[in-house]
Amino acid sequence: MLRGSTVGLRARHEEDIPILRAELYDDVINASRAESGPWRPVPPGSKDPRLVADDEEQRHVRFSVVELDGGTLVGTATLWGIDDHNRSAHIGLGLLPSSRGKGYGTDVVAALCHYGFVVRGLQRLQIETLSDNTAMLRAAERNGFVREGVLRSSAWVLGEFLDEVLLGLLAQDWKRDPQG
Ligand SMILES: CC(C)(COP(=O)(O)OP(=O)(O)OC[C@H]1O[C@@H](n2cnc3c(N)ncnc32)[C@H](O)[C@@H]1OP(=O)(O)O)[C@@H](O)C(=O)NCCC(=O)NCCS
Repeated sequence: MLRGSTVGLRARHEEDIPILRAELYDDVINASRAESGPWRPVPPGSKDPRLVADDEEQRHVRFSVVELDGGTLVGTATLWGIDDHNRSAHIGLGLLPSSRGKGYGTDVVAALCHYGFVVRGLQRLQIETLSDNTAMLRAAERNGFVREGVLRSSAWVLGEFLDEVLLGLLAQDWKRDPQG
């Protein structure tokens, strides 16, 4: 398990799946804002790759996020689009509603940076998020990500086009401890 200061990133377990489906992917607003595609209901038993980690898929690594104290599931984290030639990847995360705003997101980004830069030897990590997602922007910036641009009207979200912000962090600029 990858350890942050309050949360850990471990493999996806079978018992995580119904919780993640109910609290993240059945929620039309959350899913529409967090995914770059239309919301669709996820049937029971689905092998949806957001829920069921595919060991054969080398470009994406999916984690479940748990509290270090007690092991309660609090969300998901992903290193995706891993490019071994350019040594880059994207990061993504989603916390259960009751686990947001407690500092876990900042800690998850730190753990994903450790995984990307130290475990995988990557040179660049990237995040795309909606420009009104203050919590995601702050969690990224706390870990040293810088805003590199705005993708104007790039996301169709529930009836309107929204801007996305592109953030990047290079290995040499990464400071292991998020700014307190
Ligand atoms: C985005 C998300 C991962 C952030 O994680 P979090 O644990 O809620 O965020 P943190 O508690 O670490 O807070 C990070 C910063 O955002 C601020 N913040 C938290 N929630 C906020 C909110 N609702 N509105 C404004 N600011 C907020 C915190 O005060 C903190 O600011 P600081 O660094 O200046 O002190 C989480 O809220 C989430 O899963 N949201 C839904 C899914 C999502 O948006 N995923 C990202 C898709 S790209």
